[in-house]
Amino acid sequence: MVPVSIAIDGPAGAGKSTVAKLVAKRLNLMYVDTGAMYRAVAYLCVKDGVDGRVERAVRELLDTHKITFEQGADNGLRVFVDGVEVTARLRDPEVSALVSTVATHPAVRSQLTDWQRDFAARHSVVMDGRDIGTVVLPNATVKVFLTAAPEERARRRQQEYHQMGYEVAFDDIVRSVIERDKKDSERALAPLREAEDAVRIDSTDKPIEYVVDEIVQLVENAHVR
Ligand code: CDP
Ligand code: CDP
Repeated sequence: MVPVSIAIDGPAGAGKSTVAKLVAKRLNLMYVDTGAMYRAVAYLCVKDGVDGRVERAVRELLDTHKITFEQGADNGLRVFVDGVEVTARLRDPEVSALVSTVATHPAVRSQLTDWQRDFAARHSVVMDGRDIGTVVLPNATVKVFLTAAPEERARRRQQEYHQMGYEVAFDDIVRSVIERDKKDSERALAPLREAEDAVRIDSTDKPIEYVVDEIVQLVENAHVR
């Protein structure tokens, strides 16, 4: 049987990973957080003091370290560098600040895109990111472009930072979220872009469960057709 694939793309803090995880649970599919993969590369740069702007240096890091992924008990992606789990470090502010820079490098994108396609060819998945519906899985069963107002996305991020023990000023978060979206949207390779056949969902005033129901309905309709 051909695996089912649900692509969820959108800007930072739109609710992609929260919603994708719940959709995967409801439909008994695997969840793949592609942002965690790009974050793993940024983490490696921070850890080794490598300049993430220099593609050659980042490629060398990828050649000399082994990054592996494993499905966690909560369906989240566990990330290991040379066998050591680094999942808890992936949302550190330094990693968030660097990730969209390392994500511009073709060498990084091609390696991670290969891994993502290979996984989706073997499993039915809900995959979230920036280029899933446009580049990674252009034939996905259902494509969703999930958005929310920048201030709402920053408010959600601030709450997350608070839970992690960081107090970050709201204005700084709005600025960094907008800056990351701009970088992701303007890069030459696989920019953040809504696929022509994606369904756009604005989650600004919508509870999580409501968005999950909407996506499950889209998947069910796609199967009826
Ligand atoms: O959770 P949040 O929306 O903040 O970000 P994420 O999904 O963890 O992704 C972190 C960064 O990785 C993004 O800002 C992009 O620069 C990059 N990324 C990408 O380029 N392509 C993807 N498919 C997923 C993430
Ligand atoms: O993956 P992405 O960066 O798009 O967003 P996320 O990490 O899934 O969601 C950011 C935060 O917003 C989480 O703490 C969610 O609980 C919250 N959220 C929300 O309040 N309402 C929604 N409709 C979706 C997410």
